[in-house]
Amino acid sequence: MALGFIAFLILTASFFPFMSRAGAYSVAPAASPSSPTGPLVPVPSCARSPDPAPVPPPSSAVKAGYWPSWNNSTSPPSSINLSYFTHIYYAFAELDNTSFELVITPSDADILADFTATLHAHQPPVKAMLSIGGGGGGGDTFASMATNCSTRSAFIKSTIAVAREYNLDGLDLDWEFPANPEKMASLGDLYMEWRDAIAREAAETGRPSLLLTSAVYFASHFFLPGDTPRSYPADKMAVSLDWINAMCYDYHGSWDTSETGAPAALYDPKSNVSTSYGLTSWVEAGIPPKKVVMGLPLYGRTWKLKDPADHGIGAPAVGLGPGDDGVLVYSAVVDFNSENNATQVNDEVTVSAYSYSGTSWIGYDDPWSVTGKIEFAEGHGLGRYFFWAIGYDKDWSISSRAWVAWRS
Ligand SMILES: *[C@@H]1O[C@H](CO)[C@@H](O)[C@H](O)[C@H]1NC(C)=O
Ligand SMILES: *[C@@H]1O[C@H](CO)[C@@H](O)[C@H](O)[C@H]1NC(C)=O
Ligand SMILES: *[C@@H]1O[C@H](CO)[C@@H](O)[C@H](O)[C@H]1NC(C)=O
Ligand SMILES: *[C@@H]1O[C@H](CO)[C@@H](O)[C@H](O)[C@H]1NC(C)=O
Ligand SMILES: *[C@@H]1O[C@H](CO)[C@@H](O)[C@H](O)[C@H]1NC(C)=O
Ligand SMILES: *[C@@H]1O[C@H](CO)[C@@H](O)[C@H](O)[C@H]1NC(C)=O
Ligand SMILES: *[C@@H]1O[C@H](CO)[C@@H](O)[C@H](O)[C@H]1NC(C)=O
Repeated sequence: MALGFIAFLILTASFFPFMSRAGAYSVAPAASPSSPTGPLVPVPSCARSPDPAPVPPPSSAVKAGYWPSWNNSTSPPSSINLSYFTHIYYAFAELDNTSFELVITPSDADILADFTATLHAHQPPVKAMLSIGGGGGGGDTFASMATNCSTRSAFIKSTIAVAREYNLDGLDLDWEFPANPEKMASLGDLYMEWRDAIAREAAETGRPSLLLTSAVYFASHFFLPGDTPRSYPADKMAVSLDWINAMCYDYHGSWDTSETGAPAALYDPKSNVSTSYGLTSWVEAGIPPKKVVMGLPLYGRTWKLKDPADHGIGAPAVGLGPGDDGVLVYSAVVDFNSENNATQVNDEVTVSAYSYSGTSWIGYDDPWSVTGKIEFAEGHGLGRYFFWAIGYDKDWSISSRAWVAWRS
């Protein structure tokens, strides 16, 4: 097969020395109809540079949030109070399952243009990031892409082209989750080649380097009963990523209706499924502390109590409580509490909030628990925090508290 369209243009666009150093591309996947047609970028190489310099930790604050682009019509970028964020992630773009190139739909294209323009118009400007993947699936496609150098290369090349075309400041991978040690190894190769391509592109074009981050499991390794034991390629992540977004939430939820649980406990006296354990595990695995960014959920999870008089954390439950599949965004939690005169508790043991009214029970984070988590993360010298998701807060009450709570 002949060189692909983009590779051909690059050959004619003075990147030949780069190409010849990188080695010939005998195979390049055909461009899909939806593939980017943006500015030309150097083609990443399978034979990457041997010793990439480690990317330094972020030099300025990371107070970030993911913005669900599917909520655009009700919560557009113009509705975000940008004073409370340094980086906002557009959630999500996907990759084509055949070409493995990033797909930007016509709707994404419209919304992305508004997203970056709105973030950059703010003073100070907010960095616009594009997150790829998400919790909605795509794991098999990532796995197929990541296993093969040639498809990794097609993917990487397309992401850089999209980032430049839409004036983004960086890229984020949210692969939930590499299912076994082999896939974790492929992920490590992907991160290293991606960083190499990003560094080369910045050097070739003279533009500021794109940021590269990744949303990851709350801990550096999978250890729950039934999980295939496996660890992230932390050594490669430490070198290649600007930071990681540890998803420190969903510890308890609709998959276990037998008892209530703190969905994002900072501490758990009975298990390692906690934010303190997860964040510490990342540092112990070798990620520089300043590159470990803590995830904070702006939503709660609900249960139906077996006995309204037994309403602690770990109380017997018989099903889910209010919300869609037992999930209420924080603004809905606040509304529920006031409409139902719910009793609200700040639990010192787990550093989490819960409320109950009748048989309805909700575990969530509130400004108090978020402040406690920030004190923990700050005390451990970690990078800062991100939220899932922008638009779920109640009148920016948690976002604004977090913004001032992190003092260092
Ligand atoms: C955002 O999307 C979610 C579905 O993911 C929906 O439940 C929620 O109501 C939406 N929120 C807003 C503010 O539109
Ligand atoms: C995104 O939301 C804005 C504001 O409501 C609207 O003007 C725009 O048409 C929306 N874009 C898409 C692609 O839905
Ligand atoms: C956003 O938050 C800042 C800081 O609290 C505040 O001064 C500003 O009025 C808010 N902007 C809007 C549009 O609400
Ligand atoms: C690829 O995606 C298309 C469209 O979503 C779907 O019909 C097809 O089954 C997928 N193929 C594979 C191999 O997953
Ligand atoms: C890698 O992917 C390319 C392009 O899809 C394919 O031609 C090649 O056979 C794959 N190599 C392996 C080892 O699977
Ligand atoms: C938590 O993990 C540590 C090792 O990281 C292990 O020694 C300990 O037994 C674990 N605790 C529980 C309750 O599983
Ligand atoms: C609300 O609950 C408190 C106890 O938590 C109770 O004293 C009060 O009477 C309740 N108010 C209403 C309007 O039900």
